[in-house]
Amino acid sequence: MATVKTATPVETRSLPPRILHGGDYNPEQWEHIPGTWDDDVRLMRLAGVTAASVGIFSWARLEPEEGRYDFGWLDRIVELLHGAGVRVFLATPSGAKPNWLALKYPEVRRCQPTGQREHQAGRHNHCPTSPVYRAKVQAINERLAVRYGAHPALALWHISNEYNGYCHCNLCFAAFQRWLEQRYGTVDALNRAWWTAFWSHTYRRFDEVTFIDGSVNGLWLDWKRFMSEQTADFLRAEIEPLRRHAPQVPVTTNFMGTYEGLDYQRLADVCDVTCWDSYPGWHGPATAGRADGEAEVALNTAFHHDLCRGFKRRPWILMESTPSHVNWAAVSRPKAPGMHRLASLQAVAHGAEAVCYFQWRKGLGGTEKFHGAVVDHVGHEHTRVFGEVAALGRDLRQLDALVGAKVGARAAVLYDWDNRWALEQAGMMRNQGKNYVETCLEHYRPLWRRGVAADVIGVQTDLSAYRLVIAPMLYMLKPGVAGRLEAFVRDGGVLLATYLTGLVDEHDLCFTTGRPGPLRQVFGVWAEETDAPEPGAVRLLPVAGNALGLTAAGQGGVFCDLVHAEAADVLATYGDEWYAGRPAVTLNRYGKGMAVYLATRPDAAFLDALTDRLLAAAGIEPALPTALPSGVNAQWRGDCLFLMNFSRGPRRIEIGNGWQDRLAGGTVPAALDLPAHGAFVLSRGGTPPAES
Ligand code: GAL
Repeated sequence: MATVKTATPVETRSLPPRILHGGDYNPEQWEHIPGTWDDDVRLMRLAGVTAASVGIFSWARLEPEEGRYDFGWLDRIVELLHGAGVRVFLATPSGAKPNWLALKYPEVRRCQPTGQREHQAGRHNHCPTSPVYRAKVQAINERLAVRYGAHPALALWHISNEYNGYCHCNLCFAAFQRWLEQRYGTVDALNRAWWTAFWSHTYRRFDEVTFIDGSVNGLWLDWKRFMSEQTADFLRAEIEPLRRHAPQVPVTTNFMGTYEGLDYQRLADVCDVTCWDSYPGWHGPATAGRADGEAEVALNTAFHHDLCRGFKRRPWILMESTPSHVNWAAVSRPKAPGMHRLASLQAVAHGAEAVCYFQWRKGLGGTEKFHGAVVDHVGHEHTRVFGEVAALGRDLRQLDALVGAKVGARAAVLYDWDNRWALEQAGMMRNQGKNYVETCLEHYRPLWRRGVAADVIGVQTDLSAYRLVIAPMLYMLKPGVAGRLEAFVRDGGVLLATYLTGLVDEHDLCFTTGRPGPLRQVFGVWAEETDAPEPGAVRLLPVAGNALGLTAAGQGGVFCDLVHAEAADVLATYGDEWYAGRPAVTLNRYGKGMAVYLATRPDAAFLDALTDRLLAAAGIEPALPTALPSGVNAQWRGDCLFLMNFSRGPRRIEIGNGWQDRLAGGTVPAALDLPAHGAFVLSRGGTPPAES
């Protein structure tokens, strides 16, 4: 396995100081049509394109026969782009393997869970363990690094494409067995961690682990961890020759939001900068008939942007988005006029330092020929979509001063892959509607509605930057997590946890100290049982004069922890069922902070009110002193306030005097009218409230 030399500190590997604009560019598909490349460059200038991702699926063109490389075409394209002032995100081509490789070396093709080897088809389906694949990838990556590593156009290595999925071949299992041996030392330790006496699953040797058995919860979980680690290791192997020859060039690999299969935090740790491919369902079924229009989609998108930023708590790249529509969804409508500008500025508001597309030019064939692109099949610039992209290019040029500017979040929502995997796999009193990701989003919603910046972070992240931490359904407490949360509260933080907190340790073995396990003292509660009524089935009744000032009753359900308030004050009780009168929301003052336990899944209004009180307790101000109209979001980044109207109608906001329009120039009125799908970027100097 390759080890990475990190001679150059990460901080010195940085992107050009601009908000970049560009996208996936596949010139090899157009080589046979004379004049297309020149026209591409002409059109890129018109569209204000400053970056192009090249070579993502070019292996068969770069190495048409084993060991015979052809870089001539890439040389020409890189020069052409350089001449037009377009920076290159040069991809490593491992996302799609050439036929000669897949046919000559079957081991590079993945095996399904049944052990059956896949055909050479599609893409994103190599074995992450195969030494042959690693060697071939490293060989071509090395040549790319030697040839282009010092080229002034090169801005970033785009490693592979959307790593995903698992391989179940013998090589992977042998590596898994070694990984387990390193992790557990002895097979007895593994048996204890996996609780294998259950159903007679005891292993005698590590090499008996030869398939994935979901009934052994620990095995299920460790397999997903291993596959994430193996993918990260493959990523390290890809990077190794790049670092050796071009240590100054940053690396990234494109993620898919909260994709379930891989723990992206492990991959992010290997990269210099994070990026993701964002394809929200604008104007889709989720928005039908809603007065707030695209707000639900915008909220979901914002959460994923904040996750991408949260991995490193640094600016990130929107690596792919469509200028119009996708072609793989059940229904995907073209972005309505203005939507593209709004969605792209939303990404910048949340910390993006590049807005890029899939794809620059629409291919004439293949499965993506009807996917949105900047350049349509007609091949000229006189299209609505091209016009909107070009206009955005002009806007982005006004925002270069934002490079490096922080979002300055003081609130954080925890999102953790291990927790998700274990929680979803655990058979319990309710297996329908656990909805971990959706629940994280529900807790993020009240923050978004107020324009409160939030980082979405993993459980290993240092919490000292935050005043409010929200930990939805933190079923698993891995080593160190409870201690960090305890210290956070002790030092003055406000912590919200929910039902199903602190049930198991990192092995998915239950704590015997009473739920929420090692956090029992911090929350001052013991959750003895959990009921699973239907959503909204149980009333939530605030206790008169409760410490947070909750007044409105609500509805709970789905999960109802039945807690004993051992040290905590009761803020609200259940109003129904045999546990009427027992605590539903509690508050424990602990050290200088407070820990609030929400024992059930409440309705949106109750959660909104509770979060409002927690924000006040944490001293976190909303983006503006005035409430945001429905469908409007506000985000601070650096000294800029982004005001974004995701609703279908005009909205007016009273923002007061003295604001400058950073895009159009000049000042804006104190009562600012946002058209439908309109966005403003404003500033007035001074320090924004979100920054410390
Ligand atoms: C992405 C992928 C691109 C393209 C795009 C279409 O997931 O990385 O190569 O297929 O989807 O939306």
